[in-house]
Amino acid sequence: MSCSFKFNIIFILHILAATPILSSPDNSSFNNFLDSAKTPEVFNWMVSIRRKIHENPELGYQEFETSEVIRSELHKLGIPYKHPVAITGVVAFVGTGFSPFVALRADMDALPMQEMVEWEHKSRVPGKMHACGHDAHVSMLLGAAKILKQHEKKIQGTVVLVFQPAEEGGGGAKKILDQGALENVTAIFGLHIDPELPIGEVASRAGPIMAGSGFFEAKISGKGGHAAIPQQSIDPILAASNVIISLQHIVSHEADPLDSQVVTIAKFQGGSAFNVIPDYVTIGGTFRAFSNQSFNQLRQRIEQVIIGQAAVHRCNATVDFLEDWEPFNPPTVNNEDLHEHFVNVAVNMLGVDKVDSAMTPFMGAEDFSFYQEVIPGYFFMLGVRNASHKQFESVLHSPYLEINEDGLSYGAALHASLAASYLLKHQQDLHGVERKTHDEL
Ligand SMILES: *[C@@H]1O[C@H](CO)[C@@H](O)[C@H](O)[C@H]1NC(C)=O
Ligand SMILES: *[C@@H]1O[C@H](CO)[C@@H](O)[C@H](O)[C@H]1NC(C)=O
Ligand SMILES: *[C@@H]1O[C@H](CO)[C@@H](O)[C@H](O)[C@H]1NC(C)=O
Ligand SMILES: *[C@@H]1O[C@H](CO)[C@@H](O)[C@H](O)[C@H]1NC(C)=O
Ligand SMILES: *[C@@H]1O[C@H](CO)[C@@H](O)[C@H](O)[C@H]1NC(C)=O
Ligand SMILES: [Zn+2]
Ligand SMILES: [Zn+2]
Repeated sequence: MSCSFKFNIIFILHILAATPILSSPDNSSFNNFLDSAKTPEVFNWMVSIRRKIHENPELGYQEFETSEVIRSELHKLGIPYKHPVAITGVVAFVGTGFSPFVALRADMDALPMQEMVEWEHKSRVPGKMHACGHDAHVSMLLGAAKILKQHEKKIQGTVVLVFQPAEEGGGGAKKILDQGALENVTAIFGLHIDPELPIGEVASRAGPIMAGSGFFEAKISGKGGHAAIPQQSIDPILAASNVIISLQHIVSHEADPLDSQVVTIAKFQGGSAFNVIPDYVTIGGTFRAFSNQSFNQLRQRIEQVIIGQAAVHRCNATVDFLEDWEPFNPPTVNNEDLHEHFVNVAVNMLGVDKVDSAMTPFMGAEDFSFYQEVIPGYFFMLGVRNASHKQFESVLHSPYLEINEDGLSYGAALHASLAASYLLKHQQDLHGVERKTHDEL
């Protein structure tokens, strides 16, 4: 056994020496993916899937029909998959079935808000809308699956397609990982539509690109009574007001001014009459930072300030960081090597002036970061601006969000090309290792 093994390695090395195609990257065929993605066969199909999902938005962990659409299309393409993964998730495979493994991820969930755009494919579910473009993400990943399947013989490893539930709260990415679905995957790519970026353009950066985020809710308890006799009450409204002011000092005077952080109170509930001091007040909000250290520091100080400042006003406070409902999102941090890979692929496909490789980070959050904690990962923004739309409508989480569907071809082609060329490169690395080992013998 060991004898024939040695023979095999030597044999492979001979082949490697004789065929330069394996030792110098020939990625030219993967650059045609954009043409494939623009053919009516692929483009119209992606558009129809996107519209179908747009009409029937489903919230986190309820993406049953979306998941069904995905599986039925995969089935038609002859692509094997695992289901259910994390309740509604689907994990599909294109390629050899052997290492190296590279993953591509799309999220599937919608938001609990009413669509305000009047068009033929408007959401048919009152109070639910794909206002973060996850309908487009799903159709682009299916587009990539279709293109990769067309070129399956040239794929030098396995592409793992991850259709993930519950990005907008609920920690879908974490659940996918907990199920071991990404075992042996050595890199993962994800994208997000950007309605402010023109078609055919992409933006990203190496290192931190989005913040870590957490939520909190606090109950500040006093003693209710007649508003005209405050000395007989302990006023939680006054206490909560001071708590909110004090919380602002954490970012303004405890954080490094060069280390971006946010603490926002977005909820303040208390009282029901003009002449009654209530028993308690509830406040809540979000906090953001770009490093674990700053994030943990914020968490600790938010709790201390709320409890301490409430006590100044003789109130008691409890603070809940709601981690059961929504686990903290770590910061989204792009791997440096994958950044280089992304820039190569994107510049080859789109041209150097269409690739912003030094995008300004922002304080939004993405649960893609959970993958990046265990696998080198890379996240980028994809242009879907529709020139005919007014600027104020063109934002994610807006009830007026519209996207330029021409962007779907670019997303699908980039997904496919990032994965296929990654595998090609790493397959060669594997051979490189064998060669080196042999040289040492
Ligand atoms: C693809 O090939 C071109 C030259 O043919 C090369 O410049 C580029 O770096 C390659 N891209 C990747 C991702 O290997
Ligand atoms: C992942 O790697 C482990 C250890 O090398 C191996 O036992 C397992 O079969 C691999 N899983 C897949 C899906 O290839
Ligand atoms: C705060 O908690 C202490 C200890 O449980 C209790 O004695 C006190 O009455 C509470 N004060 C308010 C304002 O709820
Ligand atoms: C950040 O904290 C998380 C959770 O405690 C941990 O898994 C992760 O490795 C930390 N990341 C860094 C860069 O320290
Ligand atoms: C851009 O928006 C206009 C107006 O809503 C719409 O008619 C058009 O189809 C959109 N273009 C694309 C390519 O989606
Ligand atoms: Zn969103
Ligand atoms: Zn989103």
